[in-house]
Amino acid sequence: MLFPSSILLFITTFAVELVLSSPAQIPFALQNTNKPRKLHGRFLHITDMHPDPYYTPHSAESTSCHRKKSKKKKNIAGLYGTPYSECDSPFRLTNHTLDYLKDNWADEIDFVIWTGDNARHDNDRKLPRTPTEINDLNRAVAAKMKKIFTNRGIPVIPSLGNNDVWRPALFLNVFSTCPNSITNEFASIWNAFIPFPYLQVFQRGAYYAVDVIPDQLGVISLNTMYFYDSNKVVGGCAFKEPNDPGNLEIDWLEVQLEMFRERGMQVWISGHVPPSPGNYFPECYVRYVDLALRYQDIILGHLFGHMNVDHFFFLEAVDLEIFPDKKAVIRNDDEMEISGEGGLFDTLIEEFGALPKSPKLADYAVVNVAPSVVPNPFLPAFRVFSYNISDTAHETILRNRRKPKKPSKRKHGHNRDGQRNRTEHCRSEEYQDTWRCHLDQPLDSDPDSPSRRNQLFTPLGYAQYYAPGLAQANKTHGPQFELEYLTYRVEALHPDGGAEKGFQYPVPLRHLPEELREAGVGKSKYLPYKMRDLTIGSWIRLAREIADDKRRKLRKRFRKYMSVGGV
Ligand SMILES: *[C@@H]1O[C@H](CO)[C@@H](O)[C@H](O)[C@H]1NC(C)=O
Ligand SMILES: *[C@@H]1O[C@H](CO)[C@@H](O)[C@H](O)[C@H]1NC(C)=O
Ligand SMILES: *[C@@H]1O[C@H](CO)[C@@H](O)[C@H](O)[C@H]1NC(C)=O
Ligand SMILES: *[C@@H]1O[C@H](CO)[C@@H](O)[C@H](O)[C@H]1NC(C)=O
Repeated sequence: MLFPSSILLFITTFAVELVLSSPAQIPFALQNTNKPRKLHGRFLHITDMHPDPYYTPHSAESTSCHRKKSKKKKNIAGLYGTPYSECDSPFRLTNHTLDYLKDNWADEIDFVIWTGDNARHDNDRKLPRTPTEINDLNRAVAAKMKKIFTNRGIPVIPSLGNNDVWRPALFLNVFSTCPNSITNEFASIWNAFIPFPYLQVFQRGAYYAVDVIPDQLGVISLNTMYFYDSNKVVGGCAFKEPNDPGNLEIDWLEVQLEMFRERGMQVWISGHVPPSPGNYFPECYVRYVDLALRYQDIILGHLFGHMNVDHFFFLEAVDLEIFPDKKAVIRNDDEMEISGEGGLFDTLIEEFGALPKSPKLADYAVVNVAPSVVPNPFLPAFRVFSYNISDTAHETILRNRRKPKKPSKRKHGHNRDGQRNRTEHCRSEEYQDTWRCHLDQPLDSDPDSPSRRNQLFTPLGYAQYYAPGLAQANKTHGPQFELEYLTYRVEALHPDGGAEKGFQYPVPLRHLPEELREAGVGKSKYLPYKMRDLTIGSWIRLAREIADDKRRKLRKRFRKYMSVGGV
């Protein structure tokens, strides 16, 4: 074929020319790209910044903090934002947060997962959003992210939020054709973040993947707009619509996972709207759970935003079964409440309580939802994960990678029917054309994978920071970020031997509160969860403890963190 060979010719000519014209620069450039970065074993997850150019200090919350009301009314909008309100972030807050990260964290992390919503909400009828405004806001935040992180060689992996696209566009047909104005726009806004080989697929669907540590660790950034059930223009991954954008994205995801597995790599999956029955179209959800479990051996975790509520939940093999008498799903969408019957907290406690004592770990995946930077409706927060970068483990994985993967001994089909009878239901007209009746690949899980056993790349824990003094911040004293809590056990904070011997501190000591900086502290309010690591088993153990009636204090903590200290 003419096309590829001419490209090859072009590349060859180009390379030869480079060598001939500037021989001195070649080794330099190669060194630059091949030089392994010094790893810190940490990464940042930041989400839902929602900068609002119309935010006005001392205005009224009822106007989304855009206008003042008469003197008698409460004009409470703070200089740096209004905690526990319906107001978005002033640029002063998003700038302050990013500058804080630049000064205090940029030298401590390996990459940044950034899960969307970088424009204000469309919550002021007097000031409807325009596509230009949304793109400009995204461009401003992206420029700052690039300056702070990308320019220092720290990969940034953004994903698209529901508020990053103009609402009417969601409901017109713009987003279901490909490529389109939205994906083209973001291909330009994010051109520093999307690897060139993925640009074409990005222009089709706004999803892509990045090697954050070349050939070892990857991040897959999903466009969850094709799965989100508020997006009425897409087909919701219907089995009979193979060209539905959601189906195409899941097909793509499967190919990516297969490729990462073949390369012997581990990956994080990130996106804006978390994969839950309340947020995703049922058929998209089923396909997502299927992949999450089938690739449990290479997926380190699932990181999302959108909810502005700190929580975690499980994707379970049982979600792939058919329960004809249980159709209703719990909605936990934008209007979702945390408290009260059917609220997110009660739902989670119920689900955690139903987890078996000795679960079959192959049947679970964990989704972590981080709180937002926008203090709508709580307080600004971000989290820093740590992961295992031990050198000895490194050799193990390289050894493992050379070993060809054992084919699964389980036979295809019906392996997950368990006590339910899928065969019967799948003959009925109601179910025969649903994904549940067509997903028959075995769950290819491996108990020795990093999501199950602590080794190279296993997530070890996270530190979450928040700004409780937001309301009091003034011109001379911006809001301070403080540690909210840690998932770790106290011993993990002070590894034996210390940094000199190459041991890894999960949290740099200067980012710990005074009381935790010295080894040998007993109890601390900052260490409620005492998790050994963030493997699936550890999350299930924590969830069962939270649901345990004898651990009410722990449950209260979990509830408090959901609303970042608020109610
Ligand atoms: C925020 O930061 C950007 C880029 O650094 C700057 O152009 C802008 O003026 C800042 N805005 C405020 C309100 O601090
Ligand atoms: C499932 O249903 C089919 C059709 O009704 C039946 O033949 C089969 O025995 C059932 N299997 C189990 C395990 O109940
Ligand atoms: C990392 O994994 C290795 C096993 O591969 C283990 O010995 C080590 O303790 C782990 N490091 C941390 C900090 O958990
Ligand atoms: C700003 O806040 C700081 C710390 O709360 C306080 O000490 C200072 O007096 C405040 N300044 C003004 C001008 O209100």
